[in-house]
Amino acid sequence: MLRQARLAAWLAMRDPRLLGDYTRWAVEGWRHPQVTSRQDHPNVLTVDECIALVEAEYGAWEVGPSWTRVREWSFDPQARVGGGVTMAGDTKLGRLVYEVARAMRPDTIVETGVATGVTSAHLLAALEDNRHGVLHSIDLPPTDMIAAGHVGAAVPSDLRHRWVYHWGASRRLLPKLLDGVKGRLMFVHDSDHSYANMAWEIRSAWLAMVSGGVIVCDDVHLNSAFPDTASGLGAVPQFVEQAEKGGTTGLLIRATTRTKSH
Ligand SMILES: C[S@@+](CC[C@H](N)C(=O)[O-])C[C@H]1O[C@@H](n2cnc3c(N)ncnc32)[C@H](O)[C@@H]1O
Repeated sequence: MLRQARLAAWLAMRDPRLLGDYTRWAVEGWRHPQVTSRQDHPNVLTVDECIALVEAEYGAWEVGPSWTRVREWSFDPQARVGGGVTMAGDTKLGRLVYEVARAMRPDTIVETGVATGVTSAHLLAALEDNRHGVLHSIDLPPTDMIAAGHVGAAVPSDLRHRWVYHWGASRRLLPKLLDGVKGRLMFVHDSDHSYANMAWEIRSAWLAMVSGGVIVCDDVHLNSAFPDTASGLGAVPQFVEQAEKGGTTGLLIRATTRTKSH
């Protein structure tokens, strides 16, 4: 109780909006996502099949030196855990986001959900190998990860210069960030997997895409937010296998040039 009061006082001093974010999080209980029913999707693609689709849209690419840098970077295995649960993305998801970002060469990547930083590390490696682009990451990490210095542990120190980390809830920070995006956008969701939040983030990112773009959404098997939202937007949902941990990752490609309309 005393520890929580100290934490609340520290957050309020640091930024009262963060206290609001964590309070909402505790009340809404993101750890119990709104699993309406586990979704079994037809025609689930392997990562290779998914990358072939992305290449057909954007062209071929090659693995660059930063790929090895990320794969060889070692960090404390304890950094994979926060709030008593495993937070880190798996290496298949890392590979998927690296390859998508290499193929489509985004000007800006926006992701929600950093924790250990497996996806952030692979996205930054792709930007480094592209020699272009910036990654904005929104994250409301468990406070024990912050205290232990584990947030972003998977990201090599020399790949951080293209990284802007935004501490707070996506509901509060995402609209302004997406409003300022110029050029080709890649969006990666790996934060609050409740139906309402997934649907809102996917829709917001889709509407912010002006000159082509890709959305990668992790854990779409948890509820039907991904296919429901894709269908509402007239987008074609792709489902990619998560071979290591089970479940599926979603992918939407929006490759047309158009005027911003949100
Ligand atoms: C599954 S972990 C992210 C794993 C990471 N992508 C990786 O590959 O290592 C989810 C992260 O999102 C954070 N989070 C949960 N709800 C959030 C919200 N509403 N806004 C921003 N971040 C949130 C969690 O606390 C945690 O830090």
